[in-house]
Amino acid sequence: MTMAGPGGAGGARVQIEGVHKAFGLDGRSTPALIDVSLEVQAAELLCLLGPSGCGKSTLLNIVAGFIPPTRGRVRVDGAPIAGPGPERGVVFQEYALFPWLTVAQNVEFGPRLMGVPAARRREVVARYLDMVGLSEHATKFPVQLSGGMKQRVAIARALANNPSIVLMDEPFGALDAQTREVMQEELSRIQRVEHKTIVFVTHSIREAVYLADRIVVMTSSPGRVKDVFTIKLPEARDRFAAEFTRYESEITRVVKEEVAKVRE
Ligand SMILES: Nc1ncnc2c1ncn2[C@@H]1O[C@H](COP(=O)(O)OP(=O)(O)OP(=O)(O)O)[C@@H](O)[C@H]1O
Ligand SMILES: [Mg+2]
Repeated sequence: MTMAGPGGAGGARVQIEGVHKAFGLDGRSTPALIDVSLEVQAAELLCLLGPSGCGKSTLLNIVAGFIPPTRGRVRVDGAPIAGPGPERGVVFQEYALFPWLTVAQNVEFGPRLMGVPAARRREVVARYLDMVGLSEHATKFPVQLSGGMKQRVAIARALANNPSIVLMDEPFGALDAQTREVMQEELSRIQRVEHKTIVFVTHSIREAVYLADRIVVMTSSPGRVKDVFTIKLPEARDRFAAEFTRYESEITRVVKEEVAKVRE
């Protein structure tokens, strides 16, 4: 299959090097991130956990190239980023779909912008709508979809640009518990086919243990890397397995230390 755009079928390596971020004017600036260094391997799914306000979204926005770091840099396959790029796709909590476009047109939007020929665009749309189980709903508008369906469109739309990196900021945060688990299963299945590099922000420790190859726990604001856990569980994970629960309680303990600091 030919490519829809830049990027590749697999993932790219992301290096976050000594990233500091302060918001505000000189003299009155508040640090949001302090010296964050992380390397995300190609095709790795890395989850970011940490208390509200610790800088998870800020870090994701820096990797996306939407905001510059105050110090430090981000490299993709060795090349420093200088802004957003088509090799980095984003999926946010709020379904950023175009309400005036159908499901298919939303998915087609990126490839159309990139000048992908119509026949190829149809293939891309068919492939990703099938992947997220929405082939039957191609001609519907976002207003006609449930929250879970909208988030599926958002994922299909991000993948349609064939990014090597997908940045996801609490993508399932607004969904009910059952839909959320189904979406986690779908993402994990998609990841086994697509092998993207994924940075996934969540507040749910269970979600992180279900999805992640590694979990980064950040400190309370200003955010630093507090701890990194490698999740050595099989590809298709059992939420009820003793090992699963062990990771969950260990990481919960570490996250709680930081959440407690916010309350002090
Ligand atoms: N554009 C901005 N201008 C000023 N301050 C900002 C801006 N964006 C974020 N901040 C501050 O930076 C800190 C980190 O915010 P951020 O949204 O990254 O946290 P978060 O970990 O994503 O929180 P949550 O879990 O609630 O989404 C907060 O103190 C926030 O107030
Ligand atoms: Mg956030």
